[in-house]
Amino acid sequence: MANPFDESIDRHGTGSCKWSGPEGELPMWVADMDFRSPEAVTKALEKRIGQGVFGYTEPDDSWAKAYQDFYRDLYGWEFKREDVHFVFSVVAAVYAAVGAYSKVGEEVVLMTPVYHHFFTPITHQGRLVREVALSFDGGAYHIDFDKMEEAFSSPNVHLCIFCNPHNPTGTIYEKDDIKRLIALAKKHDVVIFSDEIHGPISHPGHPYVPFLSIEGAEEVGVTAVSPSKAFNLAGLHTAALALPNPKLAAPILDYLNRSVYEDPNVLSCIASTVAFNEGRDWLKEMNEYVYQSRLYCEAYLKEKAPSLKAIHGESTYLLWVDCREICGENSKKFSAFLREKVGLRVSSGETFGEAGKGFIRINIATSRARVKDGMERLVKGALLYLKS
Ligand SMILES: Cc1ncc(COP(=O)(O)O)c(C=O)c1O
Repeated sequence: MANPFDESIDRHGTGSCKWSGPEGELPMWVADMDFRSPEAVTKALEKRIGQGVFGYTEPDDSWAKAYQDFYRDLYGWEFKREDVHFVFSVVAAVYAAVGAYSKVGEEVVLMTPVYHHFFTPITHQGRLVREVALSFDGGAYHIDFDKMEEAFSSPNVHLCIFCNPHNPTGTIYEKDDIKRLIALAKKHDVVIFSDEIHGPISHPGHPYVPFLSIEGAEEVGVTAVSPSKAFNLAGLHTAALALPNPKLAAPILDYLNRSVYEDPNVLSCIASTVAFNEGRDWLKEMNEYVYQSRLYCEAYLKEKAPSLKAIHGESTYLLWVDCREICGENSKKFSAFLREKVGLRVSSGETFGEAGKGFIRINIATSRARVKDGMERLVKGALLYLKS
């Protein structure tokens, strides 16, 4: 039987943000997948739509249980029903965390390069970004605990947004990393907001470690989780906050209630419940497919263009490529060149902070045929760039 992930689904004309470019362009930038969500999800949504009544809706116990069961069964992390709260978007939760745990004029710590929408919730609310670059050993990224300690010691720092696993590098933080982060946060009275939207996307045999599954974490932190990246539900806007510590729960819930809080739409809770309950085999297959695509890209670049170095992350469907031998620090120019000359749209590294300069991010959650096309365009574009 054909592998369903091999299908190159045409998303033009569907209002897709990713596929809004001209015909012939290959979009490998924004982080959503070109795969169909699990069939069980689509069927449940069709059934709900078939009923035809679309009044207000609320997350019920079966919705919360789906989160509880999924994170307990797959990652050994347990939380109580009353600790899980619906939120319509993880970025909205980041806004709320910044509003709840920091004050105007304070600095919020980001470990860069990191997801670009962590920056605006900070700057839009009159706070300052304090970039602490991850240390890069040429092959992998690690938390620079010395620099983190320096940042956390500042009286102007009370919040750190942690990306676990890490977008764009694909890093899975191990238990020891998280323990050290908790210890630092406790010592310097800093709140950790752990964004775990990419958690379920990881290579076979390498599960991520939920922040709140580590002893002592709830004293210093809160977590945002969502099925939206892993099951391709981003357009339905569905996520949750895990808030086991009442002292940290109160200010963020208060912020949400006063400002951005939205009830779920009629489809979002159904989609997440069914994805978590019935999409686990699909998730396993998707992770295997993306892993094989990653291996393909790494091998292809190594052979055809060794000066483009793919970083081997263990999570996300994002390929983080060191292009400094091709474009120096100017990945903005290189990305624009790729788009113009070979019709490959990728994300430029500096979008993710200073430490992203000279890198590009490529979304490989698409059919293998498109992944291959993307790699060919990339290598062709790099050669043209060198000649330009
Ligand atoms: C780390 C991270 N957090 C949050 C989001 C977006 O979350 P949402 O669509 O729920 O706002 C993304 C999307 O790419 C992401 O990579």
